[in-house]
Amino acid sequence: MAGSPSTCVCVALGPRSYEILVGTGLLSQTGSRLAELGRVTHAWIVTDEHVAAHYLVPVRDSLQQQGIRADVWGIPPGEASKSVQMAAAGWQRMLESHADRGTVVVALGGGVVGDLAGFLAATFARGLRFFQLPTSLLAQVDSSVGGKVGVNLPQAKNMVGAFHQPLGVMADVATLRTLPPREYAAGLGEVVKYGTILDAAFFSHLETHAEAVLRQDPEVLGGVVARCCRLKADIVEKDEREESGLRAVLNYGHTFAHAIEALTGYGTWLHGEAVAAGMHCAAVLAWQLGLLSSEVVGRQAELLRRLGLPIQPPLLDANQVVACMQHDKKVRHGQLRLVIPTAIGRVELFDSITPEQVAAALRGASNTTSFIDRSP
Ligand SMILES: NC(=O)c1ccc[n+]([C@@H]2O[C@H](COP(=O)([O-])OP(=O)(O)OC[C@H]3O[C@@H](n4cnc5c(N)ncnc54)[C@H](O)[C@@H]3O)[C@@H](O)[C@H]2O)c1
Ligand SMILES: [Zn+2]
Repeated sequence: MAGSPSTCVCVALGPRSYEILVGTGLLSQTGSRLAELGRVTHAWIVTDEHVAAHYLVPVRDSLQQQGIRADVWGIPPGEASKSVQMAAAGWQRMLESHADRGTVVVALGGGVVGDLAGFLAATFARGLRFFQLPTSLLAQVDSSVGGKVGVNLPQAKNMVGAFHQPLGVMADVATLRTLPPREYAAGLGEVVKYGTILDAAFFSHLETHAEAVLRQDPEVLGGVVARCCRLKADIVEKDEREESGLRAVLNYGHTFAHAIEALTGYGTWLHGEAVAAGMHCAAVLAWQLGLLSSEVVGRQAELLRRLGLPIQPPLLDANQVVACMQHDKKVRHGQLRLVIPTAIGRVELFDSITPEQVAAALRGASNTTSFIDRSP
C-alpha cells in the first residue's frame, strides 16, 4: 500500500537521537527502515492478538524481503499483560529465539505492547535495540515518545522499568482505522492535553478540524500526531530522565485522572477518558482560583465534548479523591501539587492546593453545562 509522504519528527538526544516517521502505509516499510538504521539480522516482534490479526503480515513480509529473520511473540491484549510474569515469559522466549546483538525488538501495538517490549529490550542481555510501530492513538502521541518502558507491579502501575530510547519509531496513522472508537477518543484526550499545556495555535487547529480528526482524515490526522510527537519530544529533549521537573507539565489532568481510574476500578474509565475529565477538573480549579477565565474552561470542555470525550467526573467521595491524590506522591505537607492551566497553551505547577479546593473543583466540574454555554 503506497502512502502519502510521511512527516519526520527528530528527537535530539545526542547519541540516543532518533526519528519518528508519521504517515500512512508505513508498516510495509519496516524492513527497509530497519536495514537503513544499522546491521539487523533478526527482528523479535512483540504484538498482541488484536493487532496481529490486522497488521502482522505486512510487517513480517517487509522484514523477510530484507532477509531479516523474524520471530513473533503474541501476548494477550490488555493491561494485565504488562506484568513481571509476562516479562519473565518474554525473556525466556527471547532466549529460545537466540536473540543477540544483531536483534532488534520490534513493538507492534498499543502502549501495553510498547512498554513491555521496550522493557524486554532494555533488560535482555543488558540491552538490545528497540523499534516501535505504535498502532493506538495513545501510543502514537504519547507512550512511544520519550523512552519510558516498564511493567506494572500488582499494587503500583509502571513501577519497574527503565529509560530506553528506541532506534526509531514509525507511526502509521492508517492503523487507527481499526482501533475501537472508544480507544481512539481516549487517545484524543492526550492530544487535547498537548494543546492546552503547550500550544495555543495547535489547540485552535483542533477546534477548526475536530470533524476531520473524528473522521480520521489522513492528512489532518498525520499532522496532529506529528505535532503531538514534536511537543512531547521538545520536553523530553530538555528533561530526558525526568530530573528537572519539566516533564511534570505532561501530568496535566492526570492527578485527578488517576483518582478517577482508581476509585471507579481500573478499566471502567479508559485512561484518556479520565484524563479528559481530569483536565476539566483542573481547569475548573484554575477558574475557581481566579487564574483562568470561564471562557477558556468552556473552550476546553467543548473541544473535549466534540471529540467524544466525557468531561464530567463520576460521582466520587471528595475525601477519597484527595486520599488517592495524596497517595500519588505529589504532596508536600498535606498540600497537593497540581498542574493548573493559566491560559490555553500555558500551565503552571501549584504546590499549595488544599483538599477543600479539590473538593470544590470536583463539584464545579460536575456542573459542566454552565461552562459550555458560556463558550463562544
Ligand atoms: N511509556 C510511556 O511513556 C507511556 C505513556 C502513556 C501511557 N503508557 C502506557 O500505555 C498503556 C496504554 O496504551 P494503549 O492505550 O495503547 O492500550 P493498549 O495497548 O492496551 O491498546 C488498547 C486496545 O486497543 C487494541 N489495539 C491497539 N491498536 C489497535 C489497532 N490499530 N486496531 C485494533 N485494535 C488495536 C489493543 O489490542 C488493546 O485491546 C498503559 O499501560 C500506559 O501505562 C506509557
Ligand atoms: Zn496519560
